Amino acid sequence: MTALEDALPGLLGHRDRIAPVSMREMFRGDSGRFERFTARSGGLLLDYSKNRLDADALAALVRLAEAAGVPERRAAMFGGEAINGTENRAVLHTALRAGPDAVATVSGEDVMPGIRAELDRMLAYAEAVRTGAIGGVSGGFTDVVNIGIGGSDLGPAMATRALRPYWAGPRVHFVSNVDGAHIADTLRGLEPGTTLFLVASKTFTTTETMTNAATARRWVADALGEAAVGRHFAAMSTAQKRMADFGIERARAFGFGDFVGGRYSLWSTIGLPLAIAIGADGFRALLRGANEMDRHFVDAPLGHNLPVLMALLGIWHRNVWGYAAHAVLPYDQRLDRFAAYLQQLDMESNGKRVTTDGSVVRWATGPVVFGEPGTNGQHAFYQLIHQGTDVIPTDFLVAAEGQDDLPEHHAQLLASCLAQSEALMWGKTLAEAEAELIAAGMAPEAIAKLAPHKVFPGNRPSSTLLYPRLDPAMLGQLIALYEHRVFVEGVIWNINSFDQWGVELGKQLAAGLVGAVQTGDPPEERDGSTKALIRAAAAMRAR
Ligand code: F6P
Repeated sequence: MTALEDALPGLLGHRDRIAPVSMREMFRGDSGRFERFTARSGGLLLDYSKNRLDADALAALVRLAEAAGVPERRAAMFGGEAINGTENRAVLHTALRAGPDAVATVSGEDVMPGIRAELDRMLAYAEAVRTGAIGGVSGGFTDVVNIGIGGSDLGPAMATRALRPYWAGPRVHFVSNVDGAHIADTLRGLEPGTTLFLVASKTFTTTETMTNAATARRWVADALGEAAVGRHFAAMSTAQKRMADFGIERARAFGFGDFVGGRYSLWSTIGLPLAIAIGADGFRALLRGANEMDRHFVDAPLGHNLPVLMALLGIWHRNVWGYAAHAVLPYDQRLDRFAAYLQQLDMESNGKRVTTDGSVVRWATGPVVFGEPGTNGQHAFYQLIHQGTDVIPTDFLVAAEGQDDLPEHHAQLLASCLAQSEALMWGKTLAEAEAELIAAGMAPEAIAKLAPHKVFPGNRPSSTLLYPRLDPAMLGQLIALYEHRVFVEGVIWNINSFDQWGVELGKQLAAGLVGAVQTGDPPEERDGSTKALIRAAAAMRAR
């Protein structure tokens, strides 16, 4: 029996006890509910009072975190133990943002001097690109194109978009998809003589990235000659030799350790495009913010610890109430890639079906994560969240203050965010819907028909993360918060959150199909559908 299985009967008892009480009643009966169910760290406020939870249920969840060994696993992670068992690797992305006096060891070796040296090199290069001190054959770089996918794209791309007010220097673009449309559309209109390519790949073997990098290399060589290629490429990887084999000079090759997982690599030299966009000071502020969250995660008692609380709510919703999805809704347009980033962080980490020792789990693990910035999502999928048959716990993220000197916009944005969480929690009864229609002068027969459609069940859970403004340090805190939340959930589910074997089979199968797709002649041993689709695609091309 795992700690989760031990705790489940008790947690289900809490659920059954709480189930008949609506959140409306909880708020009516407890004027201190907001204070009781909020936690703060470094200017960030987590309001989780709009969840179907009370103090006893929360205490039981905190006991579960203790029984599952969250403090010990946390110490093992920060201590550089090889907690990624299937790859026999330490998990030390936290060292990348550690303070000046930190020591972090992997197999007895202090990795901090290497991390600091590589960060300094990377930031000096970023500043030189930014200011034009380093340029291409036709002068200072006007455009930087990051080529990478998964963790070598989503984190930097999300953070770069999020920090638009801090941009200076060249435009920064991101190409990830092997679909030629992505690189073709990005290169259209760019000037080869002032374009810098960053090839970002932890392994430097990923097909999509290598295909796009080869295309970019040809584009530069065709326009400027082979001799110019070196000046127009830099790379970030753990694979020093492969970078060199691609033709990247040592001065423009930035490394990091294999104790940094791909989806946790934004803080490493993989952050170069972001550092070019926001500068070295901005990047260091991002690291400081993340480090502040790390220290909170390590030091705060579990019941006041933001990542732990958010993880426990995740367990509560997934394993006790049986909710299969989780929405993340930033009321912050610049976080428009946050959900996509989080999908990799959460679903690649916790989308697992076996425990750390390889036995099949007997409980649900990671939920489906999705989201869009509010208010756009309101006019799309919120209908289902409010009135659909599934309950979808939701995180709202919003800044107290906008950064664009358009206060009337921000007032509407913030009001919309608060109204959505209020509507989810409060709902609207049939009697309330009818009363509104009576007040609007509608005939009783019409009211009887329409009113059921206007009922909101309410009692739908959400948490709100409120922060002063989205600056680099706050973004660092937010990302680290979600990283640790995913970690704590993984500990309680007893799964390895740091491998990703589930992405391998598709890659393997695709590798064996490329030739067949080109010739239209599928291998006999493939299944009937795949063979027929290959032939159908070839026939369509021939027409
Ligand atoms: O999709 C699997 C994966 O290995 C991710 O975990 C990783 O972020 C991505 O591919 C890219 O890998 P790399 O940085 O090695 O190119």
